[in-house]
Amino acid sequence: MTLLRLNAVHAGYGAVRALRGVSLQVDQGAVVALLGANGAGKSTTLKCISGMVHPRGGSIEFDGQRLDGLSPHQIVGLGVAHVPEGRKIFKDLTVTQNLRMGAYTRADRKGVARDMDFVFALFPWLRERAAQRGGLLSGGDQQMLAIGRGLMARPRLLLLDEPSLGLAPMIVASLFRVLATINKEQGTALLIVEQNARVALRHATFGYVLRLGEVAVRGPAWQLRDSRQEMLDSYFGVERHIVSPRPCATANASPGSARPASQEREA
Ligand SMILES: Nc1ncnc2c1ncn2[C@@H]1O[C@H](COP(=O)(O)OP(=O)(O)OP(=O)(O)O)[C@@H](O)[C@H]1O
Ligand SMILES: [Mg+2]
Repeated sequence: MTLLRLNAVHAGYGAVRALRGVSLQVDQGAVVALLGANGAGKSTTLKCISGMVHPRGGSIEFDGQRLDGLSPHQIVGLGVAHVPEGRKIFKDLTVTQNLRMGAYTRADRKGVARDMDFVFALFPWLRERAAQRGGLLSGGDQQMLAIGRGLMARPRLLLLDEPSLGLAPMIVASLFRVLATINKEQGTALLIVEQNARVALRHATFGYVLRLGEVAVRGPAWQLRDSRQEMLDSYFGVERHIVSPRPCATANASPGSARPASQEREA
């Protein structure tokens, strides 16, 4: 069952054409990796989905409903949460206040309290720092807080923009274990933007590689893992390969699939 479908999406900033007809899909409960070099259009793709950038062409459907044209507020309300690049938490607000901000579209107080408990169970070290200002947390904890805040919207789809950026390999490993738990326990579909292709493809079921605003490679994660050379060619624009797509499988990422942190050093 397709949850999210982008069909030939074009987007840009002034004269910059950031996306040139991007089509991709995320099935219900799936974990999908969106890869690509700097400037390939990964963040713009997520911004189009969450309504921060309005596409110039094409369509975006979530659960059968058009998202393009809706406001970010409406899109969060439909069940899409965006954890932006660079851990944009509210540095002057406490951990708890940051989490409450994530639930701003919700009126069900009991549900919000339950989800706060779920987030604190995922990140127990955040509970210990509940009254601390967000800006005083370590980089890794700020990233976890940003993800926790996204979860407070009770999303069916969580968009994550470079969650591993700047984090130590051990923290990255535990972050991806938590993402797998969220996916398994809440059935939340994940669309993960990463430059760390190795880690992302280990946890995803399907992957897309963007190059210059276009999908250059797409396929099941195992196939992309096995065709790393083709992927690298695509990253650096050497050649254009399309890995024949297979039907998107649903997520099977499991916490147990993470390798020891020592093997996470290679990008
Ligand atoms: N606010 C902006 N104004 C003008 N151009 C922009 C803006 N944001 C992005 N761009 C341009 O749009 C293109 C796609 O950028 P985008 O941020 O989507 O890439 P990305 O794949 O997320 O890159 P990175 O890995 O560096 O985060 C790039 O050419 C970038 O310079
Ligand atoms: Mg980006």
